[in-house]
Amino acid sequence: MSEQASTNVLGISGSLRQESFNTRLLHASGALAPLGMNIDVYEDLAHIPPYNSDNDGENAPQAVENFRAQVRDADALLIATPEYNYSIPGVLKNAIDWLSTGDGGQLLAGKPIAVMGAAPTAFGSVRAQLALRQVFVWTDSKPVVKPEVIVFNAHERFDGDKLVDEGTQDLVRRLLQSLAAKVDEGR
Ligand SMILES: Cc1cc2nc3c(=O)[nH]c(=O)nc-3n(C[C@H](O)[C@H](O)[C@H](O)COP(=O)(O)O)c2cc1C
Repeated sequence: MSEQASTNVLGISGSLRQESFNTRLLHASGALAPLGMNIDVYEDLAHIPPYNSDNDGENAPQAVENFRAQVRDADALLIATPEYNYSIPGVLKNAIDWLSTGDGGQLLAGKPIAVMGAAPTAFGSVRAQLALRQVFVWTDSKPVVKPEVIVFNAHERFDGDKLVDEGTQDLVRRLLQSLAAKVDEGR
């Protein structure tokens, strides 16, 4: 019997907020992952400094080096993004910029990436997700296209930290299965 390869996913939330719906969504994903998939959540987004090419290369800040190492080691990324003013929160876009430069080793090229997002509004981060997908064209990444996980009215879907909405659970489950398939395509 062939042994099933494990898939290590790095989860990144685009929100720094303690009570963030997106961070909660990310933490809930672990329990919805297919067999063999492990999701670690990146915790240090707040420590990534603004991108400056003068400080890239050998001078890259330690927080950036650590972040890059975690991304390099991951088979895939799972990003949960809020929507700020119809687009990607600055902190998340900034972190992605550090991953995309030549000095960063173009860490996103060929990387399977699943995108999801939550908001207490009726549009559930859909415009931010679209903007993220545009970024992943330039970075030559391999984003999962479907299902789209747009968690609108997010405040109705959690009981404390627990994701209780079964429809959302099912969507996340299917997103992670598609992500696993994307990783397998590249093996
Ligand atoms: C600066 C800012 C801009 C926002 N812009 C939008 C927006 O364009 N569309 C939207 O649906 N919600 C917007 N919101 C509301 C967010 O969806 C809401 O704060 C959400 O809870 C953020 O995600 P989080 O819970 O993961 O922190 C904005 C919030 C902030 C702080």
